[in-house]
Amino acid sequence: MLDDEGLRVWAVFYHQTLLSEELYHAGLQLVDTDSQARIKRFYQRDDACRTLIGRLLIRAVFRERGTSLEDIKIETTQAGKPYIVAPELNPPIGFNITHDNALIAMAFAPGVHNGPAFNVGIDVMKVRLPSQETLSSFLQIFGEQLTPHEYNLVFSAGSQEEGLRHFFWMWTFKEAYTKALGLGLGFDFKRVEFDSLHNVVLVDGKLPKGWRFYMFVLNDGDDLYQGVVAQYAGGISTQVIPASPHQDWLVTLDAASFVRQAVD
Ligand SMILES: CC(C)(COP(=O)(O)OP(=O)(O)OC[C@H]1O[C@@H](n2cnc3c(N)ncnc32)[C@H](O)[C@@H]1OP(=O)(O)O)[C@@H](O)C(=O)NCCC(=O)NCCS
Repeated sequence: MLDDEGLRVWAVFYHQTLLSEELYHAGLQLVDTDSQARIKRFYQRDDACRTLIGRLLIRAVFRERGTSLEDIKIETTQAGKPYIVAPELNPPIGFNITHDNALIAMAFAPGVHNGPAFNVGIDVMKVRLPSQETLSSFLQIFGEQLTPHEYNLVFSAGSQEEGLRHFFWMWTFKEAYTKALGLGLGFDFKRVEFDSLHNVVLVDGKLPKGWRFYMFVLNDGDDLYQGVVAQYAGGISTQVIPASPHQDWLVTLDAASFVRQAVD
């Protein structure tokens, strides 16, 4: 269902102990020199690995398409959103990457509207409270980004866990939409309101025409991740596709076998 615009998500679970030094270095050889330099600058190896996996995901799309890997060029918009330059690709590919904790995910789709970054955005978050925080203290920091309606929904939830899940849906909607626009931090998050009880999204108080929002959940042992993909698909409707167990557009992989496959 709903793959008429060909949206897909590849999600990689990364656990440091499972990605050997040898694989990390072999993977690093596969990415372009700019990416290598950026990855090597990270102080924390985990951050380096997450960014490396993101770059290898982009490469994997080309590999799957049978496109020459030498032609891959990643450029960034003025606001820092990476996009693919490959003039021979028809249609072009729109993509976006997100990482949080053990998860790195990439959404990609044929680029149809608003190139070169094509209005695709993804955000994923691990659902948890930072240690020593309660929902109230947590929302003292992040609550400012919520609309009054969202704030009430979070606080009227039946339990702290439920409230937190509502919060992370709202947050990932805001991030995914902002990232699809490629605007980064300059966008006021309060302009996007997600009613997580009724699955209704508003931007500046109106339904955002032509947009689709795909919600998804992923489990990593006991950890729960929630994510949203925002995609401008054109037309006049607004669609919110709730998370379901049958998401054939979403594939999960583990980092060691993913990197091993890239290297082989
Ligand atoms: C985009 C942004 C909001 C993502 O923040 P985040 O939620 O902490 O991070 P995520 O893990 O979800 O996403 C990170 C990925 O988003 C992508 N990204 C970076 N800038 C982006 C932008 N402006 N729009 C969309 N995607 C962007 C990158 O692929 C990045 O991963 P990589 O560094 O490994 O390549 C944040 O990095 C940002 O605002 N960047 C732009 C900074 C800015 O506004 N600068 C002003 C310049 S005028």
